[in-house]
Amino acid sequence: MPQEPEKAELHLNGKTFEFPIVTGTENEKAIDIAKLRSATSYITLDPGFGNTGACESAITFLDGEKGILRYRGIPIEQIAEQATFVETSYLLIYGELPNRLQLEKFSNSFTQHANLHKDMLNFFSGYPATGHPMAILSSMVCSLSAYYPELVNPEPSEEDVDLTAVQLLSKVRTIAAHAYKRSRNEPFIPPRANLKYIPNFLHMMFSSPKKDYEIKPEVVSALMTLLILHADHEQNCSTSTVRIVGSSWANLFASVSAGICALWGPLHGGANQEVVEMLEEIEKDGGNIKKYIEKAKSPDKSYRLMGFGHRVYKNFDPRAKIIKKRADDLLNGMGIHDPLLDIAKKLEEAVLKDDYFKERKLYPNVDFYSGIIYKAIGIPTNMFPVMFAIGRMPGWIAHWKEMKESPDSKIGRPRQIYTGRTLRDYIPIDQR
Ligand code: CMC
Repeated sequence: MPQEPEKAELHLNGKTFEFPIVTGTENEKAIDIAKLRSATSYITLDPGFGNTGACESAITFLDGEKGILRYRGIPIEQIAEQATFVETSYLLIYGELPNRLQLEKFSNSFTQHANLHKDMLNFFSGYPATGHPMAILSSMVCSLSAYYPELVNPEPSEEDVDLTAVQLLSKVRTIAAHAYKRSRNEPFIPPRANLKYIPNFLHMMFSSPKKDYEIKPEVVSALMTLLILHADHEQNCSTSTVRIVGSSWANLFASVSAGICALWGPLHGGANQEVVEMLEEIEKDGGNIKKYIEKAKSPDKSYRLMGFGHRVYKNFDPRAKIIKKRADDLLNGMGIHDPLLDIAKKLEEAVLKDDYFKERKLYPNVDFYSGIIYKAIGIPTNMFPVMFAIGRMPGWIAHWKEMKESPDSKIGRPRQIYTGRTLRDYIPIDQR
């Protein structure tokens, strides 16, 4: 017998209104309130969008209660263990794992588009050496729109989107490495055609005109894991930003540049930098973990333990589990003993036993251990959010593309409840 479609009923001021239920492929449910205002003249109010689905998406599945994360249906644990970042990018953007030929073509296009336009190189010297590399990255990514005017058409062809995606994925490494070199007043190291994605980035970051950086497989592998784990995380703050900016038909370079700015904030991708700075502060302060835990619990809420808590994960962050192990493996493999890793582990242990954090389900997130890996590789702290941006690039592109291709996509335009002054008259300045 055919089942009655599920509906939600709203009883409001003596009337009943019905709304359809939308069910996802993992049985997630939503009440479709698109017609709520026209039917009732009410809107919903949900600051921070904790309960608001902004779109339907087939890219990433996340179950925060069970600690599940899957890209296009494949568990993150399998991808982190077996795939490369380039393969992961293809999977996220095009929905399927590439075959050998597709992968080769995709990888080769990165080599082809790794260089920046020679005029863009002049931009770097216009920034102060002390400038934050996220500021440089977001401006440079937006500037790409000026150098590829043929790719900023509000209704791009499929080929244009593919080319823009490759330009972004490839050039973000070059911009990041050049921003680092600028901060050190060192000459830029151009990309090399014979190097793969991550080795090429390491080469541009750490080689000098006189000496090539020795690319160690364990470093490439650790960095690969981090980029893969950052590649997408469904409707987070920066991805929602990319989608909302793109919903006005702004081009992909401009939309991603806005995403980079959103990621920069310390509550989002800037947290990895904050975590290491926090651990350094605790170390300088004699390793007094208890003091910092108490500070984070103070009722004035003026201090947070960075790297703990997540809007969606309320059990554990599966990415943090993988990264913690990776940090151990890398540091052991490189023979590095970093006291910050010891402090981080002690802090995690103490937090997990503490009632304040237990009650609020605050667990280490992706940013808690990632900084320790970046630090071991020799990446300076202000570059950590930039590393997150390199990793998140395929996710931003995939979401922008999905939004653009969706027949239901509309300009993003939330409503509000006005709480300001009611009607009053203008008073001329000499009568105020
Ligand atoms: N330290 C101390 N208390 C915290 C923390 C923390 N790190 N995170 C949340 N709380 C408390 C918060 O004060 C609130 O307490 P109360 O119920 O007494 O008012 C409660 O836990 C719920 O917090 P919330 O701010 O309402 O939670 P949210 O979902 O809005 O925020 C978060 C999520 C990630 C912004 C927040 O947990 C946080 O600020 N964490 C530290 C920054 C951080 O590590 N960010 C990286 C997130 S993972 C990478 C990414 O995807 O961006």
